[in-house]
Amino acid sequence: MTVITETQLLDEFTNTTNNEAYIKAFTNRVMRRDELTGYIIGNDQRKLFIPYLLEEVKNKKEILDLGAGAGEILDEIHPFVQGTTFHLEEPNLALLNEYAERLRRYNIQKGEVSSSTVQEYLKIRDRANPVDCILCIHMIYHLTDFTSENPNPEAELQDFIVKLYDLLADGSSIFLVYADLEQAYAGKVALSYFDAFGKKQHHVNLARLYRARNKVLKEQGVLKLLKSLNPQDNITMNSVVCNSQFYGDSIYDLAAMSLVGELIEANDEPFDLRKLEHALSMVLKPKDGIKIAQGADMWSANEEQVICIIKKNSTII
Ligand SMILES: C[S@@+](CC[C@H](N)C(=O)[O-])C[C@H]1O[C@@H](n2cnc3c(N)ncnc32)[C@H](O)[C@@H]1O
Repeated sequence: MTVITETQLLDEFTNTTNNEAYIKAFTNRVMRRDELTGYIIGNDQRKLFIPYLLEEVKNKKEILDLGAGAGEILDEIHPFVQGTTFHLEEPNLALLNEYAERLRRYNIQKGEVSSSTVQEYLKIRDRANPVDCILCIHMIYHLTDFTSENPNPEAELQDFIVKLYDLLADGSSIFLVYADLEQAYAGKVALSYFDAFGKKQHHVNLARLYRARNKVLKEQGVLKLLKSLNPQDNITMNSVVCNSQFYGDSIYDLAAMSLVGELIEANDEPFDLRKLEHALSMVLKPKDGIKIAQGADMWSANEEQVICIIKKNSTII
């Protein structure tokens, strides 16, 4: 364990690009693994959603993984999906290649692969080839650009779920996980940053975006729409709220980890250090639902997560 100081943290993020800062915040901290066991110790979100995920993926024939990343979930579920074909959509080619490598290593069949964004992918995806499960794991953050002129996050998210539903075979499911940024400390840090330094409209848009996600998914607003569009189906939706946490060696690490929401864009532009300074000021004097705690050997912050499972059950009648 290396406990850093505030100055060391600021030095680490000085003169970096956004992409480099993202690796420091997300890959090296949120997704940090124990060196001996290999288990993820930077957060407990995965540990909490894996039992629900296993129920949906076990022995399924065709799985479509959207915003698939590097396929790290395979490390947890590979023994249960040995006969499954995985279809992948992931715009980052380096991650996509890592995913393909993992499939090879675990001897799991690779199906169709797309390096488009999910928005482009869904425009051309053939509805005649349904799948048995669709995974959307911590990827819905990329659906709506809250800096655009007049975003409509609720409509975009509903439209996304309706399109996914149309790709489901009978008896299959959508498995979706996201951070509840109305509750989580990272959401509060981001909102407060845009309130202090951003355009007023961006702050308003972001608050609307966080509300829309919870309205459509946690509060199950989309279920009514799905039922009205598919009256012949027996559709069920289950939304589970987890009191998950981010974990760091120091309170300064937690400040860096709070940037992974909306505060680091995916590009090679210089990272704006004011974001980290603002995050530090917020975690050092936590208020308004930011819950920082010091345990025996780790610090933690509240990063609530919602698990949503939408099932298309066999046709009524
Ligand atoms: C937090 S990661 C989650 C990765 C993976 N689902 C997992 O849980 O391990 C979000 C992923 O979404 C991808 N992404 C970014 N923009 C996207 C878009 N417009 N459409 C689809 N995926 C996108 C990123 O490249 C990244 O791999």
